[in-house]
Amino acid sequence: MTMASSPRVVVVGSVNMDVVARVETLPRPGETLTGRELVMNPGGKGANQAVAAARLGAEVAFVGRVGADGFGVELRRTLEEAGVDCRQLETISGVASGTALIHVDDAGENAITVIPGANACLTPRDIKEARPVMGEADVLLLQLEIPLETALAVIEEAMDLGVPVILDPAPAPRAVDKRLCRVDVLTPNETEAAALTGDASPSAEATAEALRRAGARHVVLKRGAAGAVVLDESGTISSVPAFSVSPVDTTAAGDAFTAALAVRWAGGIPLVQAVRFGCAAGALATTKVGAQSAMPTYDEVLSLLREENATKEIE
Ligand code: RIB
Repeated sequence: MTMASSPRVVVVGSVNMDVVARVETLPRPGETLTGRELVMNPGGKGANQAVAAARLGAEVAFVGRVGADGFGVELRRTLEEAGVDCRQLETISGVASGTALIHVDDAGENAITVIPGANACLTPRDIKEARPVMGEADVLLLQLEIPLETALAVIEEAMDLGVPVILDPAPAPRAVDKRLCRVDVLTPNETEAAALTGDASPSAEATAEALRRAGARHVVLKRGAAGAVVLDESGTISSVPAFSVSPVDTTAAGDAFTAALAVRWAGGIPLVQAVRFGCAAGALATTKVGAQSAMPTYDEVLSLLREENATKEIE
């Protein structure tokens, strides 16, 4: 089954080869561990979101950069096989493709180090050149594994084009920058929210309020196993519960969540329902190993929602 309408999603962001070590527990400083296995999976927050949106039935174009190396070839091939339009994915010679070193423990938790490589070559000028593609989007998805000035240029160009932006501010910005809050939907976790405003607010509601005061139209605060808190433009706060699943690998669960909420919201579904759909997609992503390979299909999300009698999200 596919969705009734296919929103057009443009993702501007990173694409990485994930080099993943499966370990019993995450290493502590100074510790040497023996891991169980090492695998390589296509990942990167931007590319994960692009694949997730495509699996959920959206028409997707990706704006990003890979290096002229074997990883770059593989990363492009995986995106194209998922049906993502890669005409704005340029190959940069003399630079390595983005790489992420990931430990995943037996509880499915992870620790990630990203080496940006070619992702760092995406410039504000490239964003100007991508305007024709961005202008065709129903929604634009953005994360922070590209240079900060490029992310800010995306927000500005999208505003100028009248295209709504959903920003997943991950990884957390290194310095407080409220300009990043001036988007239509901001989807931080609590650490990222504190990094954006420079404040650790006493409650999820207060955090969401602070982000809206800083310029976000809607705030969706991700709270992992506790679900999400939504503060919409009218000032209404809603708590959206998570789905209970048995996680094997939480890598890219946030990417599945944001892409799924984007696809539904761009398709005209009210934000709170779109967030619940996102929670289902995020939960399903934790039940499979890997990043892009773990992104659920529309039918998989649908059956989890049906199992939970959450039928409002699929009307
Ligand atoms: O969100 C998960 C992603 O973060 C991984 O795929 C890794 O590449 C890092 O970008």
